[in-house]
Amino acid sequence: MIFRPFRTFLAICALAQFQVCIAILSNRTVDDFNGDLITGFLPLYEPQNAWNTDGNCTSCSVKPDPTQALDHTWHDSSQRAGDSPSSVTLQFTGTAIYLFCIVPADDATNLVNLTFTLDGTFTGAYTHTPIGSKDISYLVPVLATGGFNNTPHTLVARTASPSLFIFDYAMYT
Ligand SMILES: *[C@@H]1O[C@H](CO)[C@@H](O)[C@H](O)[C@H]1NC(C)=O
Ligand SMILES: *[C@@H]1O[C@H](CO)[C@@H](O)[C@H](O)[C@H]1NC(C)=O
Ligand SMILES: *[C@@H]1O[C@H](CO)[C@@H](O)[C@H](O)[C@H]1NC(C)=O
Repeated sequence: MIFRPFRTFLAICALAQFQVCIAILSNRTVDDFNGDLITGFLPLYEPQNAWNTDGNCTSCSVKPDPTQALDHTWHDSSQRAGDSPSSVTLQFTGTAIYLFCIVPADDATNLVNLTFTLDGTFTGAYTHTPIGSKDISYLVPVLATGGFNNTPHTLVARTASPSLFIFDYAMYT
């Protein structure tokens, strides 16, 4: 009887530890359109007028299938020669981040050439040279990077040269 409060304390402690473990190991999604449902953060697209959403771009030659995109949404931008780079900025608190894009294999104009910075430091690049087919790949992991402190971070994904950029979603740990 005398030990009951102590046992209760231990039980609460174990439960707290368990929840901490789950929190450390979980992934959160940041959709291109709905953003981060937990923090409410919405991705920032720049320059704003260089981005289209959900295929309402009538002049775009690449027409993805909405049912194959997360939440049936994406944002797309084409940086042409002489344009400034198109970028997506994400803010999150976590130890790893993953970005998923829609990548066309289409004709020679659809190079995808992206570069990534975390807190202002280069953290990766992704290049896909078109192979002249009509295929479109979905949920393509263009960046997977981690091992950083569980503190607030800013990830910027931008076109590295004239390039197509179709952002579907991100995930962070
Ligand atoms: C988070 O998602 C990435 C990408 O799908 C995966 O590689 C990783 O194992 C996931 N991490 C956890 C903790 O589920
Ligand atoms: C595309 O849809 C977005 C969001 O619904 C809207 O803000 C934008 O003006 C639309 N663009 C065009 C070209 O219709
Ligand atoms: C991608 O961008 C980098 C940086 O601007 C450039 O050096 C490289 O040539 C580009 N890749 C292609 C295939 O054009």
